[in-house]
Amino acid sequence: MKIRSPKNDREEIILPPAMSNLNTVYSGTISSESGDEFSITNNIADLLVDEKPYTLAQSTNHWKITASIYENLWRNRSLSILTGEPFPIDEEKKLLIEWVNPLPDGSYLDVGCSTALYARALKKASPKSEIAALDFSKQMLDEARMKAEGDQTDLYLIKADARVMPFFNQTFDGLAMGGTLNELSDELKVLFECRRVLKNNGVMFMMHLIKSGNWIGRMMQESAEWGGLQFWTIDESNSMFKRAGFTVEKQFHKGIVCFTKLRAAV
Ligand SMILES: C[S@@+](CC[C@H](N)C(=O)[O-])C[C@H]1O[C@@H](n2cnc3c(N)ncnc32)[C@H](O)[C@@H]1O
Repeated sequence: MKIRSPKNDREEIILPPAMSNLNTVYSGTISSESGDEFSITNNIADLLVDEKPYTLAQSTNHWKITASIYENLWRNRSLSILTGEPFPIDEEKKLLIEWVNPLPDGSYLDVGCSTALYARALKKASPKSEIAALDFSKQMLDEARMKAEGDQTDLYLIKADARVMPFFNQTFDGLAMGGTLNELSDELKVLFECRRVLKNNGVMFMMHLIKSGNWIGRMMQESAEWGGLQFWTIDESNSMFKRAGFTVEKQFHKGIVCFTKLRAAV
């Protein structure tokens, strides 16, 4: 997979295919032609060059304990808890695959992947596609690595900041972002980056939480906002998507959980 050097916009670096084979431990150094060097440790490429301060919510994702319980204890049930009705994780993955409809040999990116739930589902649906999963938490990527190896899904695991993604313009056929929008600092900047790395007419699957319509929900969201989470109405969300260069192709919400199929406007 070809990426852009985080230190120089014009320099390319090739990620060795062997690093995506998670059955085998891969560690080493990658470099651009002009000598920018980055390490790969245990199959995870470290391309984070400018570590910015984290919000409280973001910090918790750098704890090993959060990463180890995140998917099994929270993520697999989170949509049922948040919507107040049964919402099995398989239903969410089915929607992801239906809406992204991955090409047989495309390239896809899971942005703010945590344990790479979406990336793994995309790889299973399209085994010949190149799938990258990006997060700035090493602890989450370590967990993603274990889970992807267990699932026999080959992924490119990338430690980087979604605000400045180490990819060239129009690299990916599709992107997926599950729950991450609410946790971002500089969300518009990340959405612009998403549009930049997505091919024209490419698809982006977005799951995010919208502002609650009842006062108890709002009270809870307001306290979560202290920790750095953000919530928007559907209209506010859609105007952000539009500003970043997306059109909304499909959308529905169940309670505060909103699913949107975005298309990269040309
Ligand atoms: C709510 S979790 C997302 C979970 C995952 N997408 C899923 O569907 O299970 C948010 C993740 O985004 C990551 N994150 C937040 N801001 C980021 C940024 N600027 N760059 C990279 N990762 C970021 C956090 O480390 C965390 O793992």
